[in-house]
Amino acid sequence: MSETQQYHTPVLHHEAISYLITDPNGIYIDGTLGGGGHTSLILQQLGSGGRLIAFDKDIEAIEFCRERFKEILARSVPQLQLRNESFSKACSIAEEFEKIQGLLLDLGVSSKHFDSTSGGFSYRTNSQLDMRFYPVGRTAEDLINSATEEELERIFRVYGEEKYSHKIARRICSIRRVRALRTTFDLRDAVTEAVPTFNPVDNLSRVFQAIRIVINSELEELENTLKSILPALNIGGRIVVISYHSLEDRIVKQFFKEHSEPKTHQNKYKISIKQSNSVPTLNILTNKPIIPTKEEQQQNIRSRSAKMRVAERVW
Ligand SMILES: C[S@@+](CC[C@H](N)C(=O)[O-])C[C@H]1O[C@@H](n2cnc3c(N)ncnc32)[C@H](O)[C@@H]1O
Repeated sequence: MSETQQYHTPVLHHEAISYLITDPNGIYIDGTLGGGGHTSLILQQLGSGGRLIAFDKDIEAIEFCRERFKEILARSVPQLQLRNESFSKACSIAEEFEKIQGLLLDLGVSSKHFDSTSGGFSYRTNSQLDMRFYPVGRTAEDLINSATEEELERIFRVYGEEKYSHKIARRICSIRRVRALRTTFDLRDAVTEAVPTFNPVDNLSRVFQAIRIVINSELEELENTLKSILPALNIGGRIVVISYHSLEDRIVKQFFKEHSEPKTHQNKYKISIKQSNSVPTLNILTNKPIIPTKEEQQQNIRSRSAKMRVAERVW
């Protein structure tokens, strides 16, 4: 297996790139660089005037890709720029350059995060409970040891859709009265003791996911980015989002829907009336989300939960 494959295998790569690139000389954003799988494919499609600006909050992803794309980055006018920032800064590209032709978001964590023995993203390896993509702000350890039982229960229920949220929060708080939870295995053990399930891998995945979403403000960043990118997008430019859980997918679906329908207001009889001069901004290109083929799902287990939605700016 090559080094790039070990880092992360890009999901729905063929589909994502063929929807994203509508003008080889346009400006594109890969908001989630990771191991550079999608970035590499985008670069292959670009003409001499095309540019790609790729973001990742994780410095290790940036450093890995600095090495991977060193020849392209060393050119006098590089087609690629790497930025160690949140993709929520993507709209500022339009201020620096000109309008954007496409934005790709392949959300969440890379396989490298899950396989790493540090970072605290996985319950499979023991490490400090951190879970931050970017080393600023509170860690998972801070959250787990300071949130009230009610807050923890809400986090597991809302962001993990975990049915044993209450039992898990109660168990964490009872352990905390004796000692702090410091590592992924401390949290794993608390969850395992709390749930009446023989092999609680799904409960563990949901609890770890819930904490990661909160620590990195993932849903807020997604919502803010979609809102801010729309005015920065060319007419004909596209937004392509690959999400891995229903909370992210719901945000994308609702955002696309809201901007692809004429705006309405309610009259005094509470009947919705279309505003006469309101023209939708987006055209949804994927009425149903695109999911990986059976073959891809077999080859890349991580792709199993992927859903891709695409919309094009039309106004
Ligand atoms: C699923 S991986 C992307 C994999 C990539 N498409 C590839 O082919 O290698 C998601 C990446 O997005 C990064 N990430 C998550 N949230 C981010 C955010 N708000 N801003 C920038 N990067 C983010 C993670 O650090 C991770 O490297």
